[in-house]
Amino acid sequence: MTLPTTVLGTNGPTVGIQGLGCMGMSEFYGPTDTAEALATLDAALEAGVTLFDTADIYGSGHNEELIGPFVRANRDKVVLATKFAIERKAEDPTYRGVRNDPAYIRTAVDASLRRLGVDVIDLYYMHRRNPEVPLADSVGAMAELVAAGKVRHLGLSEVTGAELREAYAVHPIAAVQSEWSIFSRDVEHTAVPAAAELGVAFVPYSPLGRGFLTGSFAAAETLSADDYRRYHPQFSGANAAGNAALVEPIGKLAEARGVTAAQIALAWVQQRAEVHGLTVVPIPGTRKRSRLAENTAAATLRLSEEELAVLEPIAGQVTGNRYADMSFTSAGRE
Ligand SMILES: NC(=O)c1ccc[n+]([C@@H]2O[C@H](COP(=O)([O-])OP(=O)(O)OC[C@H]3O[C@@H](n4cnc5c(N)ncnc54)[C@H](OP(=O)(O)O)[C@@H]3O)[C@@H](O)[C@H]2O)c1
Repeated sequence: MTLPTTVLGTNGPTVGIQGLGCMGMSEFYGPTDTAEALATLDAALEAGVTLFDTADIYGSGHNEELIGPFVRANRDKVVLATKFAIERKAEDPTYRGVRNDPAYIRTAVDASLRRLGVDVIDLYYMHRRNPEVPLADSVGAMAELVAAGKVRHLGLSEVTGAELREAYAVHPIAAVQSEWSIFSRDVEHTAVPAAAELGVAFVPYSPLGRGFLTGSFAAAETLSADDYRRYHPQFSGANAAGNAALVEPIGKLAEARGVTAAQIALAWVQQRAEVHGLTVVPIPGTRKRSRLAENTAAATLRLSEEELAVLEPIAGQVTGNRYADMSFTSAGRE
């Protein structure tokens, strides 16, 4: 079966209803296997996944370079999404600076195009918002990239509902990409309702709670030293055990249904979007063909009202923030 398709925002690109997050193929979630990662890209396209998600910071450019040949070989089928805004320092792995100024945006897009080896990016996101730069200036600079033919559609990540409305008044926005899962639902306060009202699609990132919802790890301390999930308060220290207990019902529902916990988590996001009346295209991240097959098989799975009722209270009981510094997130600015 190939995935059904949907449209990303008013006049946006048509994509398979589930995309693929490529981030882990370069960094953040432990060791990577390049051959298996590249085979996973091909398997995704074969399954009907067309939205491929990267960013300039993933592996500090490595991820764009990794997927570039695949994108070029399938240019007419792939909807390529990448992002700018986050600056890093090689000597401090936890440092994050946020650049939204027009001069930076103009430099960043050319660097991404060069690494990807393409002449146009289908969906270009502002990865994080720096409130010190007027949003109209940033989105104005992004709109100039559309006019110049370097970018086809615009997106924003981790914006509040008010920020989305302000940006949309400058130029149409095809998609908002923010964290949204059974476990992390703060976007439902303002960003999701604003997107629904404007006809902007939502691209939920970390729909599997970075793997935590699948039961693949229960505490950050068990992960490899370079695993970025060690910096996430929800997965570490005093929060880990209680939060791991909260996700146990997901595994139990999966067992009863003969599916996997990951599949329950992905079906939940698709169905939650129906409640809010907007299009979603979740982008679960995987480096493996076996998990790709498992995840795409969940795109059309339907949960019953009883199953949804079991999952409903989980997010409200989670302890710890989803980032150490919440000022970079929409919830931190609401
Ligand atoms: N805009 C933003 O700020 C932002 C932030 C984070 C992520 N993202 C994007 O969103 C994408 C997805 O988010 P994410 O990767 O953070 O989290 P995720 O999709 O919630 O989870 C990914 C983790 O789950 C594992 N996994 C995948 N499928 C699985 C399955 N069926 N069963 C068990 N484990 C499974 C993966 O490991 P394996 O690779 O071993 O399968 C990986 O460790 C990223 O790749 C990136 O493109 C964007």
